[in-house]
Amino acid sequence: MLIAQISDLHIRDHIGMFGELVDTSETLRKAVHLLNSLEPQPEVVLATGDLTDDGTKEQYSQLLEILEPLNAPLLPLPGNHDERSEFLSAFSAQLPEEIPGSHCSYVIDDFPVRLIALDTAIPGRHDALFSQEHETWLASKLDEDSDKPTVIFTHFPPFETGINFMDLSGLKSSDRLEFLIRNNPQVKLVIAGHLHRPIQTVFGSTMLSVCPSTGNQLKLDLDPRNGSAVDEPPGFQLHIWKDDRFVTHTGTIWEGKELDMSQYVSYVNQKISANEGIIKD
Ligand SMILES: [Fe+2]
Ligand SMILES: [Fe+2]
Repeated sequence: MLIAQISDLHIRDHIGMFGELVDTSETLRKAVHLLNSLEPQPEVVLATGDLTDDGTKEQYSQLLEILEPLNAPLLPLPGNHDERSEFLSAFSAQLPEEIPGSHCSYVIDDFPVRLIALDTAIPGRHDALFSQEHETWLASKLDEDSDKPTVIFTHFPPFETGINFMDLSGLKSSDRLEFLIRNNPQVKLVIAGHLHRPIQTVFGSTMLSVCPSTGNQLKLDLDPRNGSAVDEPPGFQLHIWKDDRFVTHTGTIWEGKELDMSQYVSYVNQKISANEGIIKD
């Protein structure tokens, strides 16, 4: 199974502070085009929050218009820049009916891998909480099928990334989430956004990957006094589920130079089929 992830789309209808760096509508259009041209095609696209800048109806309709050509089904999740009621009404066609009243978490069981959306955003705040209510909800969903490989997708990374100002406005009580995941080894991958950078760690003995933004990135600066946004290339991730493990790739939405290596690819294929080694010329 191939899962694509896009995050922190930040669709906006004003320049604001970050609009100087990148036009997020333009980069998302390019991301949709790139995802549609992938071979093989992803079976699903997970959008891990901050889908708009301010959560207004206008920004969601702009977002839906840009996402409309996407081939694969999209499963969305809100972040701290979204607004729950507008998010729910914008994505009523994509979201299942069974969503808790106080958070937009849900389960999709239509694929070889179980997909659990975990929404820990708090309305009106930029930080987040894995509350007792989230814990009870997630534990009951994990209990429903403890054998099927499962991915949890969420907005806030549940660990300290080293980018201090983002960690300070991160997820509270993430240790309870880690404990739960450690006790549910069917969770093969946890993916998040919010940090606008690709970051990996091990979490509760499973892999945890943070996806870059389809708009601007945050600068890799581990000095706790600093924080900057940068126009590094927009990105996305592909998560391949094969042979009981996930392999995660980070791709960029960037028109760089390309060198065709198809001759070498056919040489390798020919040598492998003939059971010969890959000999240096
Ligand atoms: Fe964001
Ligand atoms: Fe965020």
